[in-house]
Amino acid sequence: MATTPERDAHSGTATTGHEWDGIKELDTPMPSWWLYTLYASIAFAVVWMILYPSLPYVRGVLGYSTRAAFSEDMAAQQARAAPMLARMRAATPAAIAADPELRAYALAGGRIAFATNCAGCHGSGGQGAVGGFPSLADDDWLFGGSFDAIHQTISVGIRNGEADARGVAMPAYATAGLTWPQINDVAEYVLSLSGPAGDTAAAARGAPIFAENCVACHGEAGEGNKDMGAPRLSDRIWLYGGDRASIARSIAFSRGGVMPSWSGRLDPATINMLTVYVHALGGGER
Ligand code: HEC
Ligand code: HEC
Repeated sequence: MATTPERDAHSGTATTGHEWDGIKELDTPMPSWWLYTLYASIAFAVVWMILYPSLPYVRGVLGYSTRAAFSEDMAAQQARAAPMLARMRAATPAAIAADPELRAYALAGGRIAFATNCAGCHGSGGQGAVGGFPSLADDDWLFGGSFDAIHQTISVGIRNGEADARGVAMPAYATAGLTWPQINDVAEYVLSLSGPAGDTAAAARGAPIFAENCVACHGEAGEGNKDMGAPRLSDRIWLYGGDRASIARSIAFSRGGVMPSWSGRLDPATINMLTVYVHALGGGER
């Protein structure tokens, strides 16, 4: 309920003129330091809005933009990196690895490119994963661990449908001429290549089946073939699991690991750095 403003007898301050059930409100002014700070903030905000972009579609008279500043930073960074990247592009991976300065740069750049592009399949340390993703940190190579072989594999990829991709396709023997008992026998023989056979009679029955069907790709003694990407079967390193059932499944339905080609996705300097990085993970061959 409104009444006319009046002076309060105790404090000497005027009231606002509002009254609720006999309670009146004093009209105490803001302290002047507070008010001037408020006015200064408003003035500062207005000046700021004129100078810098703070409204949609308005550039600000200083012409500043975070986007442009970011592009400048990036361009400066690229200009700084350009001479080194040109050397990465011009040198072979083997030459990069032989030069301590280039090698250190390639390992750092390769690690970042690996984390971005490769770790999703090969693991953050290149340790691989069961299910067909090979470890790149051991010395067991499907296609070879020399600088040239690694460079080639990364560039063209594996079984990705492109004409120059690496890797042949293995037949699926469940529909390519073997019965299930034969598949189980040859699986037992495959197991015997890397350890004592559990079922020696079955392994003996599997041996001629292996000789007839498998040696063309996997070799006489299961040593593998790097031109085809046929894995060595005589070690205990398995892409798809080394238990009896997984091996029988590999033989019956075949496997065909796929990797994209990177030559169209990454620039030559990055592919060289990745080659040096992968080679240095632990299993690099001369
Ligand atoms: C989509 C998953 C995927 C990505 C991403 C991927 N790879 Fe692979 N990579 C594979 C598979 C699967 C194989 C094995 C194919 C096979 O079974 O023969 C492989 C094989 C390889 C091999 C051959 C290893 C050997 O033993 O000879 C190299 C080297 C390799 N990858 C490097 C890389 C690098 C470097 C990158 C990143 C630029 C990368 N890969 C990204 C799936 C991938
Ligand atoms: C045309 C060539 C070819 C023939 C013939 C072939 N393989 Fe393979 N085999 C391959 C390739 C290539 C792979 C690797 C597939 C991949 O990397 O995804 C493979 C993978 C395997 C694997 C999985 C290895 C692992 O590390 O998990 C087993 C087991 C295997 N083959 C057994 C056999 C047996 C047994 C025969 C004969 C009955 C046979 N292969 C015939 C090419 C062949």
